[in-house]
Amino acid sequence: MYRSHTCGELRIGDVNKEVTLSGWVQTVRKFGAITFVDLRDRYGITQLLFGESLQTELDTNPLGREFVLQAKGKVNERSNKNLNILTGEIEIVVSEFKILNKSAVPPFTIQDDTDGGDDLRMKYRYLDLRRNAVKKNLELRYAVGRSTRNYLHENNFMDIETPFLIKSTPEGARDFVVPSRMNPGQFYALPQSPQTFKQLLMVSGYDRYYQIVKCFRDEDLRADRQPEFTQIDCEMSFVEQEDILNMFEGLVKRIFKDVKNIDYTEKVERMSWEEAMWQFGNDKPDIRFGMKICNLKFPAHTFPTKESLSSLISGVDFKVFDEAETVVAIAVPGCSEYTRKQTDEITEWVKRPQIGMKGLVTIKCNADGTFKSSVDKFYTEEKLKAIATATNASAGDLILILAGAEERTRKAISELRLEMGKRLGFRKDDEFRLLWVMDFPLFEFALEDQDGGGAGRWVARHHPFTSPKPDHINIMINNSPKVEDLDKYLEHPYAGIKANAYDMVLNGNEIGGGSIRIFQRELQEKMFAALGMDAAEQQHKFGFLLGAFEYGAPPHGGLAFGFDRLCSILGGSESIRDFIAFPKNNSGRDVMLDAPSTIDAKQFDELQIKLDLKPPTPKGE
Ligand code: AMO
Repeated sequence: MYRSHTCGELRIGDVNKEVTLSGWVQTVRKFGAITFVDLRDRYGITQLLFGESLQTELDTNPLGREFVLQAKGKVNERSNKNLNILTGEIEIVVSEFKILNKSAVPPFTIQDDTDGGDDLRMKYRYLDLRRNAVKKNLELRYAVGRSTRNYLHENNFMDIETPFLIKSTPEGARDFVVPSRMNPGQFYALPQSPQTFKQLLMVSGYDRYYQIVKCFRDEDLRADRQPEFTQIDCEMSFVEQEDILNMFEGLVKRIFKDVKNIDYTEKVERMSWEEAMWQFGNDKPDIRFGMKICNLKFPAHTFPTKESLSSLISGVDFKVFDEAETVVAIAVPGCSEYTRKQTDEITEWVKRPQIGMKGLVTIKCNADGTFKSSVDKFYTEEKLKAIATATNASAGDLILILAGAEERTRKAISELRLEMGKRLGFRKDDEFRLLWVMDFPLFEFALEDQDGGGAGRWVARHHPFTSPKPDHINIMINNSPKVEDLDKYLEHPYAGIKANAYDMVLNGNEIGGGSIRIFQRELQEKMFAALGMDAAEQQHKFGFLLGAFEYGAPPHGGLAFGFDRLCSILGGSESIRDFIAFPKNNSGRDVMLDAPSTIDAKQFDELQIKLDLKPPTPKGE
């Protein structure tokens, strides 16, 4: 028997018990003739006391950090109690011990505030995982998974596995491909999601499916993206959008309760995509705080239902605003007394290449009701006041205004709003605000190649299986997808087609997304055609799905949550890597395994593949 108890288990009530513990040596402290050892396992830390009689044995078998140790002894009440840990009132007076295994000196300290940098910790991830901070994250992940499974099971969902070696499932990224030895020259794709399989399961009548499943996407990585990540993937038959929103609002609320003991009783707010872009400048607004955008000027076709305010800023010969496609403002509360240095710093912030603005206009709404602006020479006090009113600014606020091309400027004001929200402490880790963003555009114009399919074409914003709003089907059918003038793609009729699609947003992060699907072959073919696929390509890529739709496909829909993302937000971290046991770095590498790596010549031979590597393109080209 290696142990009678774990290192997190013994309490004052266990005093005088004879016990055996096994674990890792966290620290060794020698005080004259006695030695204290903190012994750690997954459950906690217990102090061991080695008395005088064991010192000679300890001298011949010295203990080091991370040694694996078994110790037998009696539970004793500690004279010097540590009330910060649950075992802190007791210690074990060791009578016998055995070193089960030695350890090399670890390359960093195994404690919360470790001295190990990111790369080193990833290289020795198995040691990093011993740290309490990382363990807590994995425990949270496990709790989220368990709560999810319980809820879905109670609601009749069935967990069904789907294959990893498949044909492409488009989700807007490039595929990872796997060569087939048995079928030379042919490749599997790893699933970007189980999308088509879950739809086939609906055709098969399984009614409610779920899977906590790995997805693989070859795309540019960020803090909230990994090349392989996990989804809570779900699909339901005979449902309308409302059924899905209710079911999965229920799931997230259940997770809040089970994992964070939060009663999220209010209804999850809903907002159309257009309203989100209008008020917040992006499709995943953080609604923990206001500071909504005031749209002073915008191209009419982007928000056809909105009224223009451009008369407020025109007619004074201020070229920056006159020549801009879009002029947008936010009122930052309580910042009218910012110094020149502070506003200059914000100006530099918006000029950074990641934001890409040429400058920033400010208006200070002074407490005494007067205004002071960086463009005073163009705008009278009266005009500044009118702008302040439109921006919903109060006395004491600082108005920040950006001008430029529509997409870039809207993105920039959205980033600026988030940055100011962060600086002013409006984005609290322990406050959770959910939001459904709905009625997304069905298509997106790919100015750059995102999925290897080329640039300058319409791609499905969600995926090609998402149904258009019924009223918009005809716009799709009656218009060619061809875009004559790339600069004017936003004016193409396709830009206005909306989808039965929805995203769930938590504190400004997209934690899930889904849609009501197309379930008729004819409409699915029209959708593929709109994406530029001719009949032969449709048959080659999606013949199986089109075929299945001929055999009684039920109306269906679903969604998938980003499991890692959900965990990281619940755990108060921006990086999903902290919640993945063995993550990849930003170049998609596993630095512990040193993968990806080259393979043997023999493997290439078996696969009948010859490499023809091009020299790497120098950075920046
Ligand atoms: P979607 O592509 O929106 O939908 O993905 C669902 C959710 O998965 C998370 N996510 C990611 N997390 C980490 N790393 C990534 N690279 C990554 N990419 C996406 C996001 C996202 O909201 N099949 C559809 C779902 C459906 O229609 O039912 C799909 O995959 O949180």
